[in-house]
Amino acid sequence: MLDRDYSKTPNPRQVAGFFVCEGVGRFNYPMKKVSLHLLFIYINILAGQVDYNSQIQMIFNSNCTGCHGGNHNSGLDLRSYESVMAGSNSGAVIVPYNHANSLLWQKINSGAMPPGNNPDLASEQVDLIAQWIDEGALENPALGTYNNAQIPKEYILNQNYPNPFNPVTTLRYDLPEDANVNITIYDMMGRVVKTLINDQQSAGYRFTQWNATNNAGSPVPAGLYLYMIQAGEFRQTRKMVLLK
Ligand code: HEC
Repeated sequence: MLDRDYSKTPNPRQVAGFFVCEGVGRFNYPMKKVSLHLLFIYINILAGQVDYNSQIQMIFNSNCTGCHGGNHNSGLDLRSYESVMAGSNSGAVIVPYNHANSLLWQKINSGAMPPGNNPDLASEQVDLIAQWIDEGALENPALGTYNNAQIPKEYILNQNYPNPFNPVTTLRYDLPEDANVNITIYDMMGRVVKTLINDQQSAGYRFTQWNATNNAGSPVPAGLYLYMIQAGEFRQTRKMVLLK
């Protein structure tokens, strides 16, 4: 049986502990949820990234879901990450990495949404949503996926963004099936600079980031670099430019 006696004072290891790993059966449920949530926020702050659940969903909940709650005639449902990414009657409302072309940003930036007498979003909220879109509209950077609603049809290695960059860039790739994935960065002489990923991964829209350091952790000089993905039989190489 699970230990569900919430009246007990939580023991200090549970309170202190994002990193405490106890047998699942013994873990106090609410504590576990809170700890995981804090851990994701903590990772996101370290990575300087917007967290969908703790930052974006809250804006929608306070300002939008009263109308965009599933049965709205625009077809746009803002109650969860999956439904936002699924789009509306007009199609996708978010173009990852491109806030200016995203209908969602256009509507809140112009003040068209929320409509009528409803107060506009604060400019910080509009900017936060722009930043979230420009980071790829990521749900959970810790898991390295950004569109959990769908599985891609083919292998793709996307152009990194931003490019040129300094010092961090995001590399997106699509896996239509589970695969053994290797993503490695080379210099123009063909020497290995950094192995970013060498792992079995599940199908999905995935991303990783490079912070312009080599395998030894030292910053690399400005210049042109190549990145190559190998996943199953698939191989693709692209170029990127590090500016300093
Ligand atoms: C009072 C109800 C109401 C609220 C609150 C509201 N909307 Fe809307 N929204 C609408 C209506 C009605 C439409 C369809 C007509 C239109 O596009 O003007 C719409 C359309 C949209 C569209 C275009 C969808 C498409 O398929 O064309 C977007 C994007 C959008 N809303 C985003 C938002 C966001 C983000 C918020 C919160 C910040 C929000 N809305 C708050 C009523 C609302």
